[in-house]
Amino acid sequence: MTRAGLSSVARVLAGLSLAALVGGTAAGPAPFDAVHWRQVFARPDHTPNPPDNPATPEKVALGAKLFEDKRLSGTGDVSCASCHQAELSFSDGVPTHMGLDGLPLDRRTPPLWNMAWGLSWFWDGRAPSIEAQAGGPIENAREMAGNLDRAVSTLAADPQMARAFAKAFPDNPMVTRANLTKAIAAFERTLVSPETRFDRWVTGDDKALEPDEFAGLKLFVGKGACVSCHQGWRFTDEAFHDIGLPGDDLGRGKVLGVRAADHAFKTPSLRERVWTAPYMHNGSLATFEDVVNHYADGVVSRPTLSADLPRNFTLTATERAQLVAFLNTLSSEDPPRATSLPARTMSVGVSAEAVATSTVGQKDRKFSPRAILLKVGEVLRIVNDDTRVHNVRIEGPGLSYNSDGQNPGDTVTIGFDRPGHFEAICGIHPEMRLSVDVAPRK
Ligand code: HEC
Ligand code: HEC
Repeated sequence: MTRAGLSSVARVLAGLSLAALVGGTAAGPAPFDAVHWRQVFARPDHTPNPPDNPATPEKVALGAKLFEDKRLSGTGDVSCASCHQAELSFSDGVPTHMGLDGLPLDRRTPPLWNMAWGLSWFWDGRAPSIEAQAGGPIENAREMAGNLDRAVSTLAADPQMARAFAKAFPDNPMVTRANLTKAIAAFERTLVSPETRFDRWVTGDDKALEPDEFAGLKLFVGKGACVSCHQGWRFTDEAFHDIGLPGDDLGRGKVLGVRAADHAFKTPSLRERVWTAPYMHNGSLATFEDVVNHYADGVVSRPTLSADLPRNFTLTATERAQLVAFLNTLSSEDPPRATSLPARTMSVGVSAEAVATSTVGQKDRKFSPRAILLKVGEVLRIVNDDTRVHNVRIEGPGLSYNSDGQNPGDTVTIGFDRPGHFEAICGIHPEMRLSVDVAPRK
């Protein structure tokens, strides 16, 4: 091969590696594939709950109360909600919160949206489950300076709390450390960020994004390579990366004792971030503009920089503005509220001396199980564990009941005072049928 031939091969190879980075070919960037990206960014249709801590309305309601209960702290004046403020998307609007010792904490308070889909918790991933995480701040001297065992005895001495724990944990009706952290975790899993304009684009509405925002999406998945780390509907790969922010915090490296992971932090979700400035583990960047400028020309060169971080790329002022415009579409237009509404219980015919309760779920537009056998005096509890609103109607001897709208998390309880065959349907999804046979009590 001639020298000229060799250098053209080298040029093509260089072109290829750059092209691989931006998802294109040597001939230029690949055309934007809307069908592909709509699949990649599609929202899930239900919230995952671990089998050893299923969500019930009673447990979630208890967790919501505990989240605001200052008795969990050693000083009696700090609750989870002191830092994770619902009206600030469960963050606190400051770079780093003031610790109880009067000095700022080391890291920024992260917003708590979509925790249910996490793989590890805290900026450095040191907690392996949300349940494990919940105990952390209570016993952290600088956050709540509490003592879990003391908090447990204080709560157990409050009859109202003891009752709420008994309802939330019917199989083990005690105020314990495990039940306390389970209830808080079950509540946190209900904090699902609402759909935004971007989700309208994902579900097929081409007009949902303005031209600048759409151009920003193309940069996000193209030249900016943001999607290498901010993946899927939550915009995180749940991995740890050093993105070249100045600072001494070793992050994941310290947890693992692995130098190669120094300065690496968990990729944050980008949902509802309009409401959670300032940004990054240390709150060092005030705006989306600052964030985009950091990626474009602020990265500190270090051996630990993530291999997924794009190198040698430039963004024009217009392109930076387009990226920011796109980031804005991942947030609600008004301060968001969790999509899950406070759960309600609707009842008919339930008497105080009910002898037993059987529970039926409604996930994926199906009653589960689809047939149930009860005895007179027993209570049927139908829990909406679906993402859809349902409506329970039940007909049978001496009973004709219509529940009204039953939101996700809402429960319908029905008492049976006579034997017979009953049919329950959902008025909104009539293909959902539950057959109930009530046997006489011997
Ligand atoms: C004094 C402020 C403060 C209080 C009080 C507080 N947190 Fe936090 N929270 C933080 C900070 C700061 C972090 C990040 C710490 C880190 O990553 O090292 C955090 C991290 C978390 C995370 C991890 C989020 C993620 O994306 O990984 C969860 C979940 C959480 N807190 C829940 C709670 C719960 C539940 C309580 C009450 C029991 C609570 N917090 C009390 C400041 C606070
Ligand atoms: C190599 C992986 C990677 C790439 C590529 C990447 N990010 Fe990030 N992003 C992260 C990590 C990790 C953090 C948190 C870093 C920290 O706090 O130390 C972060 C933080 C952010 C934040 C702040 C979120 C918050 O709540 O603090 C925004 C916004 C953001 N990135 C947007 C982008 C955009 C836009 C691009 C493309 C130009 C991009 N990212 C490319 C991994 C990445």
